[in-house]
Amino acid sequence: MTERETWSSRAGFILAAVGSAVGLGNVWQFPFQAANNGGAAFLVVYIAAVLLIGFPALLAEFVVGRNTESNPVDALREYAGESWAVVGGLGVFVGFWILSFYSVVGGWVLRYVGGSLTGAYFGDPSGYFASIAVGVDALALHFAFMALVVGIVALGVEDGIELGTKVMVPAIVVLLVALAAWASTLPGVADGYAYYLSPDLDTLAANLPSVLPNAVGQAFFTLSLGMGAMVTYASYLGGDDSLPADGASIVVLNTLVGVLAGLVVFPVLAAEGIGFDTAGMGAVFESMAAAFATLPAGNVLGVGFFVVLLLAALSSAISLLEVVVSYVVENTTRDRKPVAAIVGAGIFLLGVPTAFDLSLNGVGALAWYNLLAYNLFLPAGGLGIALAVGWTQGGRSTRELARGSNASETLGLAWLWTLRTVVVLALTVTLVLGVKTVLVTAGVLASSALSSMPLVVALAAVVAAVLVGGARSVDRPTA
Ligand code: PFF
Repeated sequence: MTERETWSSRAGFILAAVGSAVGLGNVWQFPFQAANNGGAAFLVVYIAAVLLIGFPALLAEFVVGRNTESNPVDALREYAGESWAVVGGLGVFVGFWILSFYSVVGGWVLRYVGGSLTGAYFGDPSGYFASIAVGVDALALHFAFMALVVGIVALGVEDGIELGTKVMVPAIVVLLVALAAWASTLPGVADGYAYYLSPDLDTLAANLPSVLPNAVGQAFFTLSLGMGAMVTYASYLGGDDSLPADGASIVVLNTLVGVLAGLVVFPVLAAEGIGFDTAGMGAVFESMAAAFATLPAGNVLGVGFFVVLLLAALSSAISLLEVVVSYVVENTTRDRKPVAAIVGAGIFLLGVPTAFDLSLNGVGALAWYNLLAYNLFLPAGGLGIALAVGWTQGGRSTRELARGSNASETLGLAWLWTLRTVVVLALTVTLVLGVKTVLVTAGVLASSALSSMPLVVALAAVVAAVLVGGARSVDRPTA
């Protein structure tokens, strides 16, 4: 096998990981998740989920990746034992799965960059979305987007991913800051800020059982967790830099970009009097396009906005493909270039039902793919990684976390125990509620069949009991 590549610099790693984190999740998915889950109240739970669950889980992925220098399947096998390879295998499958629909949406974005330039959607923004989002057009754009992703990944870790994200991530930040500054000058934006930034805690309290799993799912999706993308990126770390410091930069930058995107989207919609709850997968496309169609200099603003979305989507999509490519390259004798092309072709095919929006039980393919990823795959993968890193390898994990950082032993233990308890508990609850959501959506369960609250409490009690039992028997790690 040829020698494994590494990032050329620490900044290269951080930018690549931020590029993976900042994506459609921040700009496309976040506003409609927020709109469906109580607006600013969702923002509060989401930020708590990012800090308390996402951050420790991110460090867990870094620890396995850097320690083993392998793709997720071999990494988990080597770290925690043969049977844990399944967790890595789930990650590779989920990379394949998520990219298949992510790329269809990426195709829409490509189209909207062109549409903003020519003003193609200005006459009828909703009709335009309907005409491009489904069918042969959508398929062709999905193909074009996948071709771009394959092209970058084929060039390799340093010359493709690192170089690409070094250009893309700063461009996203500069463009978003400019757009947010411009948005703040629009008339009537106060309503947009108010909606986004003043949480309605009563709504939150009333809906916590449904808001919580969505917030945890969103936190995982936005940080690219639960499927080995961060394991893979950390596996290309050659040196001994501080994982907690790098992880913190990534979490902060990702959250800032998400909030910044909200500071563009919500004021623009408010200024145009467009409702925030036009939820659904087309929300950002239809409503932002409607706004650009009437605002002065709409072409320029539209190009700016959709270019941000395109760069964000691309820099995330390459990390999804890289998970699969690294696994295949390291387990066959093939070169990266043909592997990237063949895997890309497979992902393209898996995206066909989404491009044609085939539906099952009245729910469209895109919603299904998204739902399964969010509610099942990512929490399951995250749980597997948390158990592998936290419970099977306490001492090794805290030592690896400490390598290259001057964080104290207490901090390492605090991380380990958060991973072992808070993260495991939150992901188990999310997963069980997720299974329920999937069964209800599939029509197998009536939505009233199992009420969530007793379910959550019973489950939390079981997991807590198991954890307490586990805590007694496990080795006391020393840092
Ligand atoms: N973090 C990306 C986003 O917010 O759009 C999505 C994503 C990328 C999820 C890579 C998972 C992943 F491995």
